[in-house]
Amino acid sequence: MRISVIGTGYLGATHAAGMAELGFEVLGVDNNPAKVAALAAGRVPFHEPDLPELLSKHVDDGRLRFGTSLAEAARFADVHFLCVGTPQGPTGAADLSQLYSALAGLVPHLTRNCLIVGKSTVPVGTAEALAEYVDALAPQGISVDLAWNPEFLREGHAVHDTLHPNRLVFGVTTPGAEWALRQVYSEAIAADTPVVITNLPTAELVKVSANAFLATKISFINAMAELCEITGADVTLLADALGHDDRIGRKFLGAGLGYGGGCLPKDVRALIARAGELGVGESVRFLDSVDAINLRRRERVIRETLDLLGGRTRPRVAVLGAAFKPLSDDVRDSPALEVAVRLHAAGVEVTVFDPEANRSASRIAPQLRYAPTATAALLGADVVLHLTEWREFRELDPTVLRSVARGRVIVDARNTLDPEPWQAAGWDFRALGRLVAPREEVGRVDPLLESA
Ligand code: UGA
Repeated sequence: MRISVIGTGYLGATHAAGMAELGFEVLGVDNNPAKVAALAAGRVPFHEPDLPELLSKHVDDGRLRFGTSLAEAARFADVHFLCVGTPQGPTGAADLSQLYSALAGLVPHLTRNCLIVGKSTVPVGTAEALAEYVDALAPQGISVDLAWNPEFLREGHAVHDTLHPNRLVFGVTTPGAEWALRQVYSEAIAADTPVVITNLPTAELVKVSANAFLATKISFINAMAELCEITGADVTLLADALGHDDRIGRKFLGAGLGYGGGCLPKDVRALIARAGELGVGESVRFLDSVDAINLRRRERVIRETLDLLGGRTRPRVAVLGAAFKPLSDDVRDSPALEVAVRLHAAGVEVTVFDPEANRSASRIAPQLRYAPTATAALLGADVVLHLTEWREFRELDPTVLRSVARGRVIVDARNTLDPEPWQAAGWDFRALGRLVAPREEVGRVDPLLESA
């Protein structure tokens, strides 16, 4: 069985390398020649742990190739995975044009029966429409099946999640499609990965509802953080206590600056838009609040920072983190970068350091300063903002940094720093929804925490 992977962004590049690791011959296709050239040379054009090694291993052993020709993919493969982007369009709905143009380039060139498998995140109902489109384009005598197999990989853990998925969802309309997908994923299935066989709309909905649920969980705890801030409660301890109930679970109860990235924000809005189109907008009305709570976290940090800077002339802020989360250089809808950009627009001199995302951030926010190290970013800063929770920020030495910065205020907007060493070194340590009073003072009615 030979495999093509169409679209070689985060999802496609990882999927292509993962399929090669499973032993398949793989052709990755993308309409961006620069991306193809990089991948063909064994270079990953973004930061993803373990992917460069996996990619170059299979480019070198010849199992994995990249190209720009969909016609070649049509001749080459038995199973075609669609991994193109479905970005947010101007109305909030997903823009599906890349899916249609990939199929328009592929299907007329097919020379044998095959399976096309959608992996991109799409609004419910898309796959059925695409199946009709494929039927209309398929050459005479060629049978083309379409299935939907959503992907749940997390950036920063993409290789692990691809090779060891926590579940497999096959939206299929024929036994042949299920059989082919079981062949593709035979290793994971043999390792007892749960498999859910379902129809096309269910498979599409699993993906968007999973992301909407994760977003809801984050916004839930951030809403609680807002309550904590005015009552003197501690949201991290609240989350710990909630998380001990395994019906709730502690994961995705990390309160702070909220979610960003190329998936959660757009998927929430696309689900709202799709439900509206289907006449059931009321059913997901709560997601408007999920989105609003999330965006409020950014406002909250911006407001507190401007308050802290008061009337300073030439105020300076050091921003630790630009990526939307650690282990990634992805700055799409990054809360950290948005806070930095908006502070700059408000007249603050902002210096950013991110261990991996300085370059990607400077491409879309060239107006900011970028420092080569965290320490350099703090030079002369009045306020320090911890906005992406990279491990190396937890290892900073607050005593050393005290003599680097001009001010002594740090806002931990990810609630992952230990306040004690910072406070011991004389810093005014602020957090979001979290008590930062010295241990013995925890539980006092008037915590040191700043109100919202
Ligand atoms: C998300 C899903 O977790 C994946 O399962 C899914 O496959 C992927 O989207 C996708 O649709 O492709 P990802 O965007 O890589 O993965 O990032 P997450 O780890 O989900 O984090 C999303 C955002 O939520 C980040 O900005 C993170 O900082 C934030 N977050 C996460 C919190 O604010 N609090 C938490 O407790 C957890």
